[in-house]
Amino acid sequence: MQPWHRNAVVYQIYPRSFKDTNGDGIGDLAGIIKQLDYLNDGTETSLGIGALWLSPIYRSPMVDGGYDVLDHSAIDPRFGDLATFDQLVTEAHRRGIKVIMDFVANHTSHEHPWFLEARSSRDSPKRDWYIWRDPKSAGLPPNNWLSVFGGPAWTFDAKTRQYYLHSFFPEQPDLNWRNPEVEARMREVMRFWLDRGVDGFRVDAVLFVAKDSRFRDDPPNPSYRAGKDDPFLSLRHMYSLGGKEVTSLLEKWCEIVAAKDDGLLVSEVDLPLSELRSLYCACANHRHLPFNFNLMRLPWSASWYRTFIDHYEASLSPEDLPNYVLGNHDRPRVATRLGQSAARLSAMLLLTLRGLPFIYYGDELGMEDVMVPPDEVKDPWEFRIGRFGTGRDPARTPMQWDGSRWAGFSQVKPWLPLEVEYQKRNVAAESRDPHSFLTLYRTLIHVRNSSPALTIGTYRSLLPRSERNVLAFARECPAEKLLVVLNFSSHEEMVSLGYPKASVICTTGLDIPRGEVVDPRKLTLRPSEGYLLRIE
Ligand code: NOJ
Repeated sequence: MQPWHRNAVVYQIYPRSFKDTNGDGIGDLAGIIKQLDYLNDGTETSLGIGALWLSPIYRSPMVDGGYDVLDHSAIDPRFGDLATFDQLVTEAHRRGIKVIMDFVANHTSHEHPWFLEARSSRDSPKRDWYIWRDPKSAGLPPNNWLSVFGGPAWTFDAKTRQYYLHSFFPEQPDLNWRNPEVEARMREVMRFWLDRGVDGFRVDAVLFVAKDSRFRDDPPNPSYRAGKDDPFLSLRHMYSLGGKEVTSLLEKWCEIVAAKDDGLLVSEVDLPLSELRSLYCACANHRHLPFNFNLMRLPWSASWYRTFIDHYEASLSPEDLPNYVLGNHDRPRVATRLGQSAARLSAMLLLTLRGLPFIYYGDELGMEDVMVPPDEVKDPWEFRIGRFGTGRDPARTPMQWDGSRWAGFSQVKPWLPLEVEYQKRNVAAESRDPHSFLTLYRTLIHVRNSSPALTIGTYRSLLPRSERNVLAFARECPAEKLLVVLNFSSHEEMVSLGYPKASVICTTGLDIPRGEVVDPRKLTLRPSEGYLLRIE
């Protein structure tokens, strides 16, 4: 039998925004349990996903939405407790849904007992669990490294008169992974959650765990446009991240995850193709995949997509699993970036490509970014260097379950505002509409789940490279041959594919009956229309 990650669809839940059951305006674990049937109840009326990834639920001061962990073995009380977590894992597994936890490797909260101990004195036994350096002359930071969230990556600790390193907010001090005690303690953290039944981890900010041991300055980035680009991009991060130790750590984590027969590790990197390959190679047991965020960056053009996908496919060994991501809690929503019609097309692409697709909660409804008024902003990134519009709140707003006062998310005003369109764009309304975004997602996922070609078949692109507007590819295995034809343009397109006869499985408009026969040698696609076809 194939391991689950060879044929599942993963759904990312941002727990704060999924479903509130205790009336505090913030989502919680009991809410996720309540909505599990929506994700997969074994029938085609549910979404049909095979795994869920929970953004951090550890106890946390929530400076960075839980990516500032205060206790690695406790659930934040806003979300629930360990008993509720255990129940969530049991209930998810009962429905055939795997559970992936976020593993925040690079840093902890500044309120974490380890950091409190480390900063208490230079002689603290935990001092070296974090990264401390003396000031350069004149009290300046030890080097020029920058924090992703703005300003220097160093904060001066007045009591012990040294700087500590934080690649993100000052409230997120970086752990020192060169210290074997840190590695051992974090190994225990992984084991703790594996023992509680989780099926894998998404490793946060993995490249940051390995920095230059000589703390050399990062060189300037010649293509930086001062005043236009995020200041973090003013340097090339040659020394502050991405050292070669990343691969050896991944290898060790893969071994830990292997305690579970089909355990999985997904690491958070945002890298071009040329660099993804080496991370795939990091794990001998092929349990690891580096996130592929490239589709979120490419210009919306069939030729760009085709070139990327072809090269990505060609770069992987047969055991490596491709993966595709269209949205997450750090990026503008796909429907906002591309528009509703193109977002539907991208859904068909995501769910018909080879490998592991990741869906960000609400993208299956076509949810869009929400303009958050300045006095309701929650992501500190917005107000610390807000002029670059870096805040991530717009893509983190409450899930839209129905058209009631608070969209069925909560009984009270939620922690972030709702999308203006929530009364028409919600689970209840879209479930009744045979042409909705949600119906498209459900249809595609269920087709995928039961299709050997889509789950284990090969990928082969069709049409000449010069074709700018239409992306077409075949997914094939001995049992089945499927065609995917996607019109990226906003006008009608005619294509000719070398097959005399095919039947419709579905189209992005869901307005052509299943089974209708078409001639792929003369296929006319409406603007932003996609076809999933079976070769007869
Ligand atoms: C990446 C996470 O996705 C993001 O939300 C977080 O702020 C940083 N890592 C720091 O943990």
